[in-house]
Amino acid sequence: MATRGPFEGGAETAELRSALGRFATGVTVATCRDGDGAPVGLTVNSFGALSLVPPLVQWALRCESPSLRAFEATEHFAINVLAEGHLELARRFAAAATNRFDHGRWHPGHTGCPVLAGALAVFECARRSAQRHGDHVLFIGEVLHHSAHAGTPLLFHTSRYRRLGDAL
Ligand SMILES: Cc1cc2nc3c(=O)[nH]c(=O)nc-3n(C[C@H](O)[C@H](O)[C@H](O)COP(=O)(O)O)c2cc1C
Repeated sequence: MATRGPFEGGAETAELRSALGRFATGVTVATCRDGDGAPVGLTVNSFGALSLVPPLVQWALRCESPSLRAFEATEHFAINVLAEGHLELARRFAAAATNRFDHGRWHPGHTGCPVLAGALAVFECARRSAQRHGDHVLFIGEVLHHSAHAGTPLLFHTSRYRRLGDAL
């Protein structure tokens, strides 16, 4: 039986998962509010830029995620780009836990979505599309507000968190 990686529940073979893992990414936390106003968020590395005009970004959420209902119901979501110092936060938001926001510092952004303290960049978005593709739902959002701060990013490659190396 193929071993399951951090995404848990994907249909990919171990070989496909391994090949995909050769693609180095940053690490983000996607956030929103549920119907009761409670903060919702999870660690995401499927985030990507899609369009500059209009400004669109995308990310994918597995269909079986307990967070899916909240992201499908709300009009807004935020993408928080994590810094190197966010390692424990990234782990917490990727683990099955009910109180992901308890220990972190965050505040409501312009849209009310949770903005994490120390994020290298934040993209607050209006949801433009949420379409199922395979075992994930692809979210596309239009960036309404964005901010960027100096710092070094947290990276992910071959199933491990990593730090940025020297410029080539
Ligand atoms: C580095 C990293 C990147 C991840 N990227 C995604 C992603 O893009 N989409 C996704 O659905 N899960 C992703 N996950 C897994 C979720 O963070 C994890 O399954 C989390 O528990 C999901 O939250 P939920 O329990 O609210 O569904 C990633 C995990 C890690 C460690």
